Formats: sequence, structure tokens, C-alpha cells
Amino acid sequence: MSAITRSRTAGVANGVAKHGCAAVHVASETGEGERTRFRARLTSVIVGVTGASGRLGRLVIDALLDRGVPVESVVPISRTRVDDRTRFGDFERPQTLNEALQGVDRLLVISALGTGDMVGAHRAAFEAAARTGVRRIVFTSMQNPVRDNPFPPAAIYLHSEADLTAVGVPSTILRNALYADLRADLASCYARDGRWTTNLGDGGHAFVTRADCAAAAAAALCDDGHEGRTYDVTGPVLVTADDYVALVRERTGADIERDDVDDDAYERHRAAFTVDPANAGTFELFTGTGRAIREGHLCVLGDGVHALTGHEPRPLQDLL
Ligand SMILES: NC(=O)c1ccc[n+]([C@@H]2O[C@H](COP(=O)([O-])OP(=O)(O)OC[C@H]3O[C@@H](n4cnc5c(N)ncnc54)[C@H](OP(=O)(O)O)[C@@H]3O)[C@@H](O)[C@H]2O)c1
Repeated sequence: MSAITRSRTAGVANGVAKHGCAAVHVASETGEGERTRFRARLTSVIVGVTGASGRLGRLVIDALLDRGVPVESVVPISRTRVDDRTRFGDFERPQTLNEALQGVDRLLVISALGTGDMVGAHRAAFEAAARTGVRRIVFTSMQNPVRDNPFPPAAIYLHSEADLTAVGVPSTILRNALYADLRADLASCYARDGRWTTNLGDGGHAFVTRADCAAAAAAALCDDGHEGRTYDVTGPVLVTADDYVALVRERTGADIERDDVDDDAYERHRAAFTVDPANAGTFELFTGTGRAIREGHLCVLGDGVHALTGHEPRPLQDLL
């Protein structure tokens, strides 16, 4: 697959009827009395957010509050305590989810990379949601989860999306692109070294900001009409290796060279890069991710951010 794959899965027209949180925006233009009535309606909907201790989860909670969801209607769920309201929930210990999900009407399941059995972990979360009476699930998946995609977690998301459908709770799937934030974090490392070693070839990818992923998730949780839909949540343009080098040069002023290598050489480079203390806190792409981009498996330009939030996604350069 080498051509640009345009999102075929999104497709909520502008002007779709919006309720819940989106109405708060309208209320703010029409007076405090109406705003209070909308807030009262939202108070009756309890929104759970798993992965609440993580970077995406925190941004989702901020986005929900920005939309006017009362703080008492938001339930952060994670293994790590975020605040007094945090409920303990571990996908790998499903019994903990019974209590964590009590009273939750709508649930965001943020995928849990790093757990031993991610498919089992996600399934446990979906089944717990069904068991405890959750009425809507929003799940953060990733792009093009098909069998022949060398992107390492593609097989996991293929299974998890099927498991989500199988539990029978109305759901929305958000296929997030790779985070632009991670590309931005790495720019200073490449500028420092004057070199970027990569196996991306000429492939392109529409990196998306975590903030846009969070805004899209908050919209899918708050607004009606998204059940049964799958959205490709991507940045606004496909960024190639050439584009990226040009951006880093422009933003950092550093003259970085691009070193195109094959997958074996990249794997060796990545191993050395990862253990170098100077790169702590950054995360290089897996070799399989680079290969998937190079071969066009992650060449998806979706309209999920706009379809869900009404605003255009921010480009990578905004973070550099
Ligand atoms: N689009 C991309 O480029 C990209 C890149 C990397 C990862 N991801 C995926 O996107 C997710 C969110 O990204 P992020 O940046 O917010 O990651 P993050 O900061 O590492 O947060 C991950 C969250 O997952 C939770 N988690 C992990 N294992 C869990 C378990 N067994 N049960 C319940 N919760 C668990 C963690 O919570 P506790 O440990 O406190 O429970 C944490 O809150 C990641 O988990 C990963 O699946 C996407």
C-alpha cells in the first residue's frame, strides 16, 4: 500500500446534532441561567476515564472540564492516584474494575501499552464496562489495524476492536495517529547530534498532537451521534522524512543530516540510542513502526479531529 489512504471511516457531517457538553458552549452565549440548566443535565452523566494518570488521560480530563462537564461528573481511573477522586482500576486485575466503574455511564478506555497481555487487558476493560452497566465506550485504537501491517501493535488493536464490538455496548473507536509530541521531544536530540538515523524512507505519516487526541476523545464522550463509528484521528498533513528534517532545521537552527538506513542497522541504532542517558525521557520509533510508515501502512490522512471537535488539527510544527 503506497498511496495515501484517506479516511473512509470518519464522516460525521458538520452541523450534526450535538448535545451534552457541546451545548455548554452554546449556553455560554445565551446566558448564565441556561448554562446552569445544561450543567445540571451533564451532572447526571458520569464519565469515566482510564489511563487517567497518563499524559493523554490528563489532557482528556482537562478537555472534559473545558467543555463544561462538572468535575464531580468525571471519574479518573488508573492504578496511580491522580487526586482524591481517582478510583483504582487495573485491567490486569479485572475484579478491581467492578468498583472502579460503579455508576459510570460513559467510559473512555485508553489503550494500555506495556501490559503483558494488551489484548486481554483491553478485553477485561470492555467486559467490565458491559457488566457494570456502562452505556457507551470510547476506545483509543491506532491506525490501520490489519493483519499485514508490520506496525508492532497493529495485531493487538485488530483483536481489541473486534472484542469491543463483541461486548455489545455502543462504542466509538478513535484510531489515533502517532503522537507529534514524541517527534517534537526527539528534535532536540537530533539537533544536538547533528544527525537523524531513520528507516522511514520516503513514507509519510500524519502525526497528531496528544491535545487533539484528547479533544477528540472528549467530544466522542460528550456529544451524541458517534456510537458505531470509527474515526481516524490524525494531524492535518502527511509528514515525510524530508519534511521533518526541514522543520527541525528551521525550528532549531541546527544543520542536521539524515542518515537513511535499513531495518537491521536501524535496530542497532535504536538500541544504542535508547540506553544513552542523554536521550532519557524520549522514545524512538520501533523498527516495525518505521517500516510500516516506509511501506505506506500508516499513510492515513483522516478527518477525525475536525469531525469530532469542529476545529482543524494542529500541525507538528506547532510543537517544535
Ligand atoms: N499514538 C502514539 O504515538 C502512541 C505512542 C505510545 C503509546 N500510545 C498508546 O496511547 C496510550 C496513552 O498514551 P499516553 O501518552 O497517555 O501514555 P502514558 O502517559 O504512558 O499513559 C499510559 C496510561 O495507561 C495506564 N495503564 C497502563 N497499564 C494499565 C493497566 N494494566 N490497567 C489500567 N491502566 C493501565 C497507565 O496508568 P497507571 O500505570 O497509573 O495505571 C497510564 O495512565 C498508551 O498507553 C499507548 O497504548 C500511543
